[in-house]
Amino acid sequence: MLVKGPASPLLCKKLANQTDVETVEVQTQVFPDGERYVKIEEDIEGEKCTLVQTTYPNQNLLELFMIQNALKENGADFIKVVVPYYSYGRQDKIFEKGEAVSAKAFAKRIDIEADEFYSVDLHSQEIVDFFDITAENISAMTKLAEYSMGEKNPDLLIAPDEGAKDIVKDAALSVGLGWDYLEKTRIDANTVEIKPKNIDVEGKSVVILDDIIATGGTMTEAARQLKESGAKEVHAGCTHGLFAGDAKDKLGAVCDSFFCTDTIEQERSEVSVAPLLADLIE
Ligand code: R5P
Repeated sequence: MLVKGPASPLLCKKLANQTDVETVEVQTQVFPDGERYVKIEEDIEGEKCTLVQTTYPNQNLLELFMIQNALKENGADFIKVVVPYYSYGRQDKIFEKGEAVSAKAFAKRIDIEADEFYSVDLHSQEIVDFFDITAENISAMTKLAEYSMGEKNPDLLIAPDEGAKDIVKDAALSVGLGWDYLEKTRIDANTVEIKPKNIDVEGKSVVILDDIIATGGTMTEAARQLKESGAKEVHAGCTHGLFAGDAKDKLGAVCDSFFCTDTIEQERSEVSVAPLLADLIE
């Protein structure tokens, strides 16, 4: 059974259309004090269930835990948890003494009431090791590269920092495009510096790809550098489009276009991860 997490309604609909499984609705309510309520609408006792629920913003993470609990308490035989966007993944180690490793804290909570875990473009591959159950990270980068080829006709793909270098390289190779990367230093949560680099983009069209756009600081700075280096067109694509605060305005001011997948559903979700997840449902 596909359990349709309320945070991923369109993705669940696509998955239901692409597979043959029975679907289960989840009812949610918010109490007057803001606390949440979930109820599985079908009898799932003895069933093998795949729950698809993204975890941004925060209330969706809470609902994920509650739906897992509802599945367990009501006798599901097997619980596969598919989290299209795994929030808190960027705090995957202690950067400064005294901090929590949030990515591990939530992995431990998911572990308690699940048999398998899947996610898309986790912030780091190491996050799968935080789970005791089977955990797998699926990349949407090739899908983003294919979409870029079809819609943006780029001359090359660019990673905005070294962290994205390998995933962008693999994606570029999969579609037969050239690639390069920029060098980023993060100053604080809202500010990054990207060094000018000797990439030949004069008169070229480029797509910058990254796992996530949050404040948009990384992408706008990368796009600005590439435009200053003479790029004709700069497009920005990512798997997880958080677009916090005025990110869309900032991106719109410097990029020719920007897009993301449906791991977080919104108007810029131009690429679906449904084909990547469909095999997990059946
Ligand atoms: C960093 O390692 C990530 O891959 C992204 O580049 C970063 O989290 C994007 O954040 P922002 O949009 O706030 O610059």
